[in-house]
Amino acid sequence: MNSETCKVSVTSLAKSFDKQQVLRDVNLQVQTGEVIVILGPSGSGKTTLLRSLNFLEQPDSGEIQVCGHRIKVNRGKAPSRDDKLEITRLRQKTAMVFQSFNLFPHMTALENVIEGLVSVRRIPKVQAAERGKALLSQVGLLEKADSYPAKLSGGQKQRVAIARGLAMDPEVIFFDEPTSALDPELRDEVLIVMRDLASAGMTMIVVTHELRFAREVADRVIFMEGGIVVANEKPEVFFSEISNPRIQKFLCRY
Ligand SMILES: Nc1ncnc2c1ncn2[C@@H]1O[C@H](COP(=O)(O)OP(=O)(O)OP(=O)(O)O)[C@@H](O)[C@H]1O
Ligand SMILES: [Mg+2]
Repeated sequence: MNSETCKVSVTSLAKSFDKQQVLRDVNLQVQTGEVIVILGPSGSGKTTLLRSLNFLEQPDSGEIQVCGHRIKVNRGKAPSRDDKLEITRLRQKTAMVFQSFNLFPHMTALENVIEGLVSVRRIPKVQAAERGKALLSQVGLLEKADSYPAKLSGGQKQRVAIARGLAMDPEVIFFDEPTSALDPELRDEVLIVMRDLASAGMTMIVVTHELRFAREVADRVIFMEGGIVVANEKPEVFFSEISNPRIQKFLCRY
């Protein structure tokens, strides 16, 4: 993990799809090493926010700053060359872990992990494989290095996906419901890897419904609804003192 500071700052972020305004006015500050859990009902804009943070989704307006790379977005104005450069640099500092793993089916676990190192970073294959094996070992999967995704459980696939993200040496990782596609008995193995990363000081923004993880690992819990941040609290405050009836109703479902 790099020691360089990497804050995430989101200011007045807005995003619409056609006529539907999905993000209205999102403001969020994340300090280096913080773990933020984002909760909220379906359709509240959680995925859109995460995808906007590394410009997988182009926001309409607002400002995003990640690890010192700042992009101010103006509705209707195409990103300038400088903006595009900043977006590329910002992406190099971030990794994204999706609900659906997104592994290449024709590559082994190890090949999936080192793909970016070899094809993007141009690191020699032998050297990349060494790093890949260390990462597979970190997520407890060294013995599966030569297995193809079809031969891995969902939990194992997600751990490979996390190792793949780590291979690019990110300073912040965005997780979008990393355990939602998994059977309950496979979730813990992924959550343990995430807990280890949090303990090691990784900056993490995690959309999840795992309330225990939120309670035990998060530094702050964000509740989104209707495209804005409705609550932003330390977990002990969020879970015990929250007075918003919508949040209480949401929490009752779990
Ligand atoms: N590419 C898209 N095109 C059009 N509408 C979209 C697109 N992506 C998301 N939306 C809409 O934006 C709204 C917010 O979606 P988003 O995926 O961000 O919600 P979410 O909070 O992640 O929900 P969930 O908990 O179900 O994953 C939804 O109404 C969705 O239909
Ligand atoms: Mg989502």
